[in-house]
Parts: sequence; C-alpha cells; structure tokens
Amino acid sequence: MSNDPLFRPLKVGAVELSHRIVMAPLTRMRAAQPGDIPHELNAEYYGQRASKGGLLITEATDITAQAHGYPLVPGIYTSAQIQGWRAVTDAVHAKGGFIFNQIWHVGRISHSSMQPDGELPVAPSAIPASGNHMTASFETVPFETPRALETFELADIVADFAQAAVNACEAGFDGVEIHGANGYLLDQFLRTGSNKRTDRYGGSIENRARLLLEVVDAASKRIGADRVGVRLSPWGGFNDMHDDDGSLLWEYVITELDKRGIAYLHVIEPRADFTSDTAPLDADAPDAASSFRALFRGAFISAGGYLPDTARAAVAEGKADAIAFGRPFISNPDLPERVRVGAKLTAHDRSTFYGGGREGYTDYPTLPQPVEA
Ligand code: PHB
Repeated sequence: MSNDPLFRPLKVGAVELSHRIVMAPLTRMRAAQPGDIPHELNAEYYGQRASKGGLLITEATDITAQAHGYPLVPGIYTSAQIQGWRAVTDAVHAKGGFIFNQIWHVGRISHSSMQPDGELPVAPSAIPASGNHMTASFETVPFETPRALETFELADIVADFAQAAVNACEAGFDGVEIHGANGYLLDQFLRTGSNKRTDRYGGSIENRARLLLEVVDAASKRIGADRVGVRLSPWGGFNDMHDDDGSLLWEYVITELDKRGIAYLHVIEPRADFTSDTAPLDADAPDAASSFRALFRGAFISAGGYLPDTARAAVAEGKADAIAFGRPFISNPDLPERVRVGAKLTAHDRSTFYGGGREGYTDYPTLPQPVEA
C-alpha cells in the first residue's frame, strides 16, 4: 500500500476507489445545440481526466428544462442527452475510472429567456438574487423576481430528481451527486434569506431541509443510497445566499443525511465567489470539513482551494477521506499522476472556462508518457 495518504483505497458507496483525488463538478458550457446534448468533445474531455480507480463528478446537469439556468449546460432528461452521456461514461470506464453525474435545478438562478415558454424562473419564494445574470444570448441583465413554487409542484421536482438519477444510471453513470450547494434550488430552500415559505417547506430548519431530504430519499429508492452523493456549501455566500441559523442548519441536514447511508457527502469550504481567483475562500467563515466530518459516517469529500500538499495533509489528519479539485483538474488532465509523482502543475486560463470548443478544454498537456523498454 502507498505511503501517500492520497493513494490509499477508499470505498465510496458501491464503488471502490484506488486513490482520493476527485474531479469536482465544473460548469464548462459546451453541450451540443440544439438540445443541450453531451457530445464527442465532452467524452474526450472526461476521458482525458479519468484514471484507474479515480472518481470524476460531472458538471451540473439539468434534471428538466425548467432546471436550466446557463446557456450550453447539458441535461439528463431527453433520450438524446442520455445517449450523449453514454459516450462520456464509456470513455471514463475504458480507463478504469468512475463517474457520478451531478444533477441540479437552478431555481431562481436563471432567466425567462432560458425557461420553457419564456416563463419566470421558479424559487421557494418570490425573492430575486441580488446582482446580474446572463440571458440565453449572453446578455447581462439584473435577476428577475422568480415565481414562488406552489406546494403541489414540489412533488414533481422530487420526482424529476429521482427520474434524472434513473436516467443517469441508464447512461452508464456509477451514481449521482445531488447538488444541494451554491445557491441553487435545494440550497435556496435550505436558507432563510431565500426561503420565506409558510407551508411544510419553509420556516423551521426541519421544514427548509424537507425538499433536499425528499429528493435524497426518492433518488435512493430508485437507484440505491449507495449510488447517491450530496454536495453542500455550508455558510457559502455565492449566489446571494444568507442564513439565520448558522451551524444548526448544517448539523441537522448532515445528521439526517448520515442516517440515510448515502455514498458520500461533498462539502465545499465557504466561498463567496466562484467567478474570480483573487478572493477564493471566505476568510471569516468556519472550516466546514473540520466542523462536520464527525457527523457523517460515509465517505467525506472536501473541496475548495486545495493544492496537493494541503490535500495530503487534510486526508492524513482525517479531516476528509478524499479531496475534490476543480481548477487544477481543468488545466491538468492527468492531475492524479502529477500529484503522485510530484510534477509541476499547469496553470489554468479562466478566459476559456465557459463556452467555446477545444481551446482550454481538451488541449491542456499531459506529462510525457514513459517510453516502453
Ligand atoms: C457556475 O456556473 O458559476 C457555477 C455552477 C455551479 C456551481 C457553482 C458555480 O455549483
């Protein structure tokens, strides 16, 4: 067994990883149009980043047309999308890797130009996020005031998440990650700043956590809890998130997730901003991994600004079982191998993160391959 704590095996629900360097979910806005369909270029990108026994998590993927909030983001609700993802999962499995599909509904982080029939985006309450968003044609406009979902509509959203989980398995994914983080729909329900409901889905912590937990239960029932992960962003401020309950909310949610025996919990260190490299972590917020690791018995994945050395230390001290890397995995397709041998990392180019083709997507170099004797 390796002396390097990052290269020891780890059971994550139904899969057995051989190392602990996980690719974080990353929006790249390169699905084929029309139809938001994953295609060959996406398969090449994920295939390049696969490694034997390693886990990749896909970019956030729409569970329905209503879930859509950024142009060119893929879905997992049409047969063409499911078929498109099949090429991605085949490319990853061909290298002995594993891949989970991150499934989301963006809630109020959308614009009517991207919604079915040009309707308003939906949310727990009719409260817009502050600031601006993009339209379907990449114009910058202030957030619209969303329409508050009726109670009866929430059962459909739960069913849509569960169906997306089934679709993901049909596409060959090893499991799904339910996106409960970063100010998207499930997080909008969790937090008091965006949830002012007076039904069973608002008010108390238990009520605000209900939608997320119903989604987890419904997906688990359809595909097995050992194929379901959840991502949370405790105290994160991205997308105008605020909350009055501090740690209590997260303690409740994580304790409930623990009871359900899901494959993993994926926690992002508090980040106020995903759009720059200059203020990456929220310096005043508590350390999420240290705060919550003890409450969850399944695999615990930590993300947010790690470098190889800080990742190794976090796993060595038991703060997390595995570490998810985002930006370094964009610019280093062979990141696990580079970390293993201590090779220099290629810097990322933020200007090619979103949209476009091969440039900044599939053209980052790998280490020279050893020549066979
Ligand atoms: C983004 O597209 O900026 C984005 C998407 C999903 C996240 C965070 C940021 O969880």
